[in-house]
Amino acid sequence: MKATARYLKTPGIISLGGGLPSSEYFPIEKLTVKVPTVPHFSEAETRDNGKTLEVGKHDVAEGKGAYDLEIALNYGQGIGSAQMLRFVTEHVEIIHRPRYQDWQCTLTVGNTSALDIALRMFTRPGQFILMDEYTFSSAIQTARPMGVEVVGVNMDAEGLIPEHLDDILSNWDEQARDGAEKPFLLYAVPCGQNPTGATQGLERRKRIYAVAQKHDLYILEDDPYYFLQMQPYQATDHSPPLPSTHEEFLAALIPSFLSLDTDGRVMRMDSFSKVIAPGMRTGFITASEQIVERVVRHQEMSVQNPSGLSQLTLYKLLDEHWGHGGFLDWLVYLRGEYTRRRDVMLRACETHLPKDAVRWHPPAAGMFVCPIVSLLGRVSFHSL
Ligand SMILES: Cc1ncc(COP(=O)(O)O)c(C=O)c1O
Repeated sequence: MKATARYLKTPGIISLGGGLPSSEYFPIEKLTVKVPTVPHFSEAETRDNGKTLEVGKHDVAEGKGAYDLEIALNYGQGIGSAQMLRFVTEHVEIIHRPRYQDWQCTLTVGNTSALDIALRMFTRPGQFILMDEYTFSSAIQTARPMGVEVVGVNMDAEGLIPEHLDDILSNWDEQARDGAEKPFLLYAVPCGQNPTGATQGLERRKRIYAVAQKHDLYILEDDPYYFLQMQPYQATDHSPPLPSTHEEFLAALIPSFLSLDTDGRVMRMDSFSKVIAPGMRTGFITASEQIVERVVRHQEMSVQNPSGLSQLTLYKLLDEHWGHGGFLDWLVYLRGEYTRRRDVMLRACETHLPKDAVRWHPPAAGMFVCPIVSLLGRVSFHSL
């Protein structure tokens, strides 16, 4: 039935097949949102001079736009609306430039749901999945109820250590692990890792990818902090000026695992949570088309489709109002804001924390600073 949905757009077809309400009974006629205009992104500028975007119920039929409330408020496709799917696919092409041909995107309801779906797809009870030794607690909490156990890989200031990953896999002993097979899934948070704040540099990523190829691992790249990569930290001075062109900005971003992937062994999860708003509950996956097709089938049977109102709002803002260029300008603005906030926090740490008891690595991305506390000669991690 889901597969027949595309025929419903054929002129003259009246579907009596599914339980789709008529838009006559959607009690919302118009939606307006006030948003920033490039490059006046601050809250104050938006309040005073922001642009009010408007979308009506029948804008498409009336020739006023490509997406409207009639579409957004009805059931949608598990893969997301055609309008937002096009936008995120173009965005992935601009940012990550995947190196193989049959990659595809699907909208999701955020990375938490995307990971849940991935684990349902890829794992069986009794299996092990590889993760950083300190990792996003929700990832562990998603795996455990499925009967999936976690193997922690040692980390340093740049996150997961590839040699230890190789060591775990090369010496995997099924008997010692109650018969569990060697793991084939690696869950990675390469930028501003939660909770350590570690960001893997390009060389580190290449070495991890090489280990993944050696042991035929599939990588689940959970990367909500990708665009919270900041300017290099300088303790004594201000951080260097922000990139002044889109090209400079793109060149300053560390290539993702998706960008390095030549084998189709990466499923990348992006989220609008940290760059637009978590309440949108919208993100997107990029992977080979066989994997994306399976994800979409899972979405159809769980979340159905990402919220139409969220997709419509994102479309009006990102596609119609800002466009890709304006979105990049917004991301550069966020880079500056998070750099400023990190610098304030680290200067406060430098001023107020006892350096003989605590050390920390200036984070290169994300929202976390992780002090390394040494007590009685022992070193342990604590996240702020
Ligand atoms: C590593 C990581 N993944 C996923 C999420 C949640 O993402 P989303 O809001 O898209 O579900 C977070 C948020 O804290 C996170 O730190």
